[in-house]
Amino acid sequence: MRVLVVGSGGREHALCWALAASPLCDALFCAPGNPGIAAEATCVPIAVTDLDGILAFCRQEKITFVIVGPEAPLVMGLVDKLEAAGIAAFGPTAAAAALEGSKGFTKDLCAKYDIPTGSYGRFTEAATAKDYVRKHGAPIVVKADGLAAGKGVTVAMTVAEAESAIDDALLDNRFGSAGAEVVVEEFLAGEEASFFALTDGKTALPLASAQDHKRVGDGDVGPNTGGMGAYSPAPCVTPEIAATVMQRIINPTLAAMAKEGTPYKGVLYAGLMLTQDGPKLIEYNARFGDPECQVLLPRLKSDLLPALLASRDGVLKDFDLRWRDEVALCVVMAAKGYPDDPQKGSVIRHLAEAQASDPTVQIFHAGTKSQGESLVADGGRVLNVVGTGATVAEARQHAYAVIDKIDWPEGFCRRDIGWRALEK
Ligand code: AMP
Ligand code: GLY
Repeated sequence: MRVLVVGSGGREHALCWALAASPLCDALFCAPGNPGIAAEATCVPIAVTDLDGILAFCRQEKITFVIVGPEAPLVMGLVDKLEAAGIAAFGPTAAAAALEGSKGFTKDLCAKYDIPTGSYGRFTEAATAKDYVRKHGAPIVVKADGLAAGKGVTVAMTVAEAESAIDDALLDNRFGSAGAEVVVEEFLAGEEASFFALTDGKTALPLASAQDHKRVGDGDVGPNTGGMGAYSPAPCVTPEIAATVMQRIINPTLAAMAKEGTPYKGVLYAGLMLTQDGPKLIEYNARFGDPECQVLLPRLKSDLLPALLASRDGVLKDFDLRWRDEVALCVVMAAKGYPDDPQKGSVIRHLAEAQASDPTVQIFHAGTKSQGESLVADGGRVLNVVGTGATVAEARQHAYAVIDKIDWPEGFCRRDIGWRALEK
């Protein structure tokens, strides 16, 4: 098979790392990729949102299977476009990716099919949204309907805060068309976890659970980020909870999407709140999480490529995936200033030595760039260091020991990844 991965982050590096190990993979390309990915795949400078450019490249290189990493090209219809041209592609169609692309769409689907989630209202008028907020009181959550690069959610502790989030989206156009509608949602209390399933439109195969760390600072303080670290499995997702999530959330969603005429294929990533009344859906994503993917794939014993193909081909029913019992834990190294204003261009040294010091650790690149002989920071989240071990403590020790050998004074990381699991 001639395979193209679309994306350039740590998630796509982990995907390429796993795919390059598949005996079925004859040639591997990544658009646009990064210097770490270049060790596994041929990188081609095509942007993830350049759908025509990606299609033209697939024709030129006779690509037989495309795996789409990020949400933007999914929501724009890359899978639809490739499939229409006769090129097999992994991931949901644009209509099915609405599970991530429109929070209101997902909430309506949950309401119609009795899938557990918080109560909500959808609004395009600030005045009616504020009436709803005043009626329900705080804490309450205000969300831009569309894709807002992880910045569209305000967990408001006061009515005033909720009202100003409504003004930001509906009156000041802070999120452009993504915020032309808002969802106002019940605040859910509990522990948060992610749950991943691989689906083929009819069947869902549970992958694994994980826990992300969204806040930039130790102790979960500071602004929200794309994710500062993750580990898998998440001990709070017990086998009983996982079974409930499949039965009450994932399977009914799959059946609902099929019934609505938009069957969902690909990775279904459920953001969950484990409440006193059981697991409830916070949101869906239409792809692997980043950095969650970086801790799922090192735990996967089975070949990833046939699993993704079975999802695309609709034959997951009799498929089986095998996992290592080990814990994987990823620490994100970010450029100082992230998430607001990350400094670009600083030089990262001793990466090869750090990697060589512990072969059980994987370093996945995210925002890096080659500059002459040097590797420089070229984004907010820059490197992902993934340790594995029998326990969270052991996996974490491996990851931080390697991090301490990387010479990059302009970078930082959280030192407490995994604290929730360690506290248990
Ligand atoms: P994201 O959509 O990834 O930016 O996530 C925003 C974060 O807001 C989630 O990870 C939760 O921590 C929080 N959140 C979103 N919806 C709710 C809710 N209904 N109740 C409580 N917290 C929420
Ligand atoms: N780590 C959160 C996400 O991928 O959306």
